[in-house]
Amino acid sequence: MSRAADLITFNETTSAEAFASRFDATDDATARLLSAVVGHVHELIKEFRPTQEQWRKVIDFLTEVGHASDERRQEWVLFSDLVGASALVEEINSRRPSGATPNTIRGPFFRADTPERALGSSISLDGIGEPLLVEGRVEDLDGLPIPTAEIVTWQANAEGYYENQQPDLQPEFNLRGTFRTDQNGRFHYRTVRPSGYGVPDDGPVGRLLAQAGYPLHRPAHLHFVVRAPGFETITTHIYDASDPKLGEDALFGVRKELVRPFESSVADDQPGSKVSVTFVMVRARPGRSK
Ligand code: BEZ
Ligand code: FE
Repeated sequence: MSRAADLITFNETTSAEAFASRFDATDDATARLLSAVVGHVHELIKEFRPTQEQWRKVIDFLTEVGHASDERRQEWVLFSDLVGASALVEEINSRRPSGATPNTIRGPFFRADTPERALGSSISLDGIGEPLLVEGRVEDLDGLPIPTAEIVTWQANAEGYYENQQPDLQPEFNLRGTFRTDQNGRFHYRTVRPSGYGVPDDGPVGRLLAQAGYPLHRPAHLHFVVRAPGFETITTHIYDASDPKLGEDALFGVRKELVRPFESSVADDQPGSKVSVTFVMVRARPGRSK
């Protein structure tokens, strides 16, 4: 029988099948994923039955998200994070043994080009805010230290804004740094205490969710990516235990093992706070993403 004779007529019942049948001759993983996604989109359209105008608005929204995205602002990442897609992919791929530091989402404010800094230095380039000392240790599941692990950190300032949200107000790379643990797996650096903040609602994703009445608050936190050869990379947050809105995180990212007291302390005669963190790494497992 000719290929043309096999083609499925497109109608409301057969639409997804008609699309998928064009991949019949291939076993490509992308083709399979695409067919599944298209199948779900067709189901959604059949359930909600949008008018042409409503569907155009959906496409306009997606176009706006694309236009709002560049290397400083990652609106697609924000979308994925806020609808729980990033957290679900994380959950599926990085479930860890008990005692290991869990992964959380990386979020849209990470910068891969964060400069390396000496242990003990300050990542607060404008010095604005209440001083905070961060000290910590990177270890394996047996408690053995991991020397020369790489720690990338980034955080909001005391007003709740990241440096790449305020390129005209904050110095470039303010409140960001890359550090390496010493021979005992330890690291420390100085910074300022971050504030909680509202997820940006000045772009299409935040605007849509705010209009729909979705709570967009994030409690105060520090972000970390921890890498060491032979270990799974940790992407995580540390939350300030004193934040009264810990239970109201827009992204459901707060877990009790990631909440730490930011204790009062005095360093160099300056009153401030101190937080101690331990990152527990798991050895790389075959078939797991790094
Ligand atoms: C953040 O914590 O930086 C963040 C994560 C997801 C959406 C918005 C902000
Ligand atoms: Fe954040």
